[in-house]
Amino acid sequence: MTSSFVPLPLPPSADPSNLKAFGREVHGVHPRKLTQAEFKEVEEALYNHDLLLFRNIDLTPQQHYLLVEAFDMSSELYSHGNKALDKTKTSILHAYVKSLPNTPQVEIIGHGTIRDHEGIPEIILKHGRHPENHAFFRWHMDAALYDLCPPKVTTLYGVRVPKGEMQIVRYDDGSGDELNVTLGTTAFVSGKTMFGILPKELKSLAVRARAKYAPHPFQWMRNARAVPTGLGLETEGLETALEDLPPWEEEKVKAYPFLWKNPVTGELLLQVHPCAIIEIQIDPLPQGRDNTNVPYPAGGRITDLKEIRELIYRMERLGIAPSLVYPHSWEEKDLVLFNNRGLIHSVVGVFKKGQTRLFHQCSLAASDEPLGPSEEDVNRWS
Ligand SMILES: [Fe+2]
Repeated sequence: MTSSFVPLPLPPSADPSNLKAFGREVHGVHPRKLTQAEFKEVEEALYNHDLLLFRNIDLTPQQHYLLVEAFDMSSELYSHGNKALDKTKTSILHAYVKSLPNTPQVEIIGHGTIRDHEGIPEIILKHGRHPENHAFFRWHMDAALYDLCPPKVTTLYGVRVPKGEMQIVRYDDGSGDELNVTLGTTAFVSGKTMFGILPKELKSLAVRARAKYAPHPFQWMRNARAVPTGLGLETEGLETALEDLPPWEEEKVKAYPFLWKNPVTGELLLQVHPCAIIEIQIDPLPQGRDNTNVPYPAGGRITDLKEIRELIYRMERLGIAPSLVYPHSWEEKDLVLFNNRGLIHSVVGVFKKGQTRLFHQCSLAASDEPLGPSEEDVNRWS
């Protein structure tokens, strides 16, 4: 059989012209039985379309892990380190993800009480939710952003998917924006689009900027609240002081360019974790460039959290407009693979009592760092 890649059905809220290249449903091959040639096709499609959906797939945790590993053969650590989150009770992620006893690279996420699952007698899962109810929880890429490299591919497998009424996501930022979604959707937005729609002056800033992330960012941010859109944190001084964090080393702190390069298409995309960032470093404009209307023509460093967050918000908010969001409508046995270095995503919605959700998730800390813009890119977009 040969594989085919079919456009995903888009909800009425989506603008098809912007999302036409985003996401494909894969037919004709089983992700667990790919020949080398078929795997290559799938891998290429993943980087061309950023998200792949396989429907009605049976997949054990071990098979799930092996599939993800194939995208980065030298990697074998879960994105935050195997079982690292189980041990780190002070991380904000601790409440939401638990690793499976026999396949620690695969985590379970969801909502409600699960009994007798893959060697776990009983576990109570908590769905990440925004206190403002039906909002995006937190936009993010899956990455520890300290010590370990950001995973290339994340996979989500729907074991149990509750059915329920549609919910309305309210952006609540004065825009009046709303998005109709199915219960427990995962929302995705493309980093390529997010960069593509930026005004020229913000493109110039993006191509020259680096995001420095807090050491142990998920412990650093654990007491801070997200803004209503889930695109960053409120600045209320609630971050843990750096000296109160578990021991950390400067060499393990991560600083990444704002723009990452898709390894297959060579396209640039905006990829900044809006909650974990602690500093912005900006290079000056290349010599002899016209600096009219260009922000930070001489470069600089921004260390004020409020200023950092306002700037990131300005840059990323355009890209999460309702028409640009792909909210995946989950069915049981859906397997979604996404280019974790090409998009950001968010958990959405609120479950009622009795609405049990169980997902397997696997992403592995990568064996290399993401590619940033080349000198040519900097010259082109500055
Ligand atoms: Fe995630």
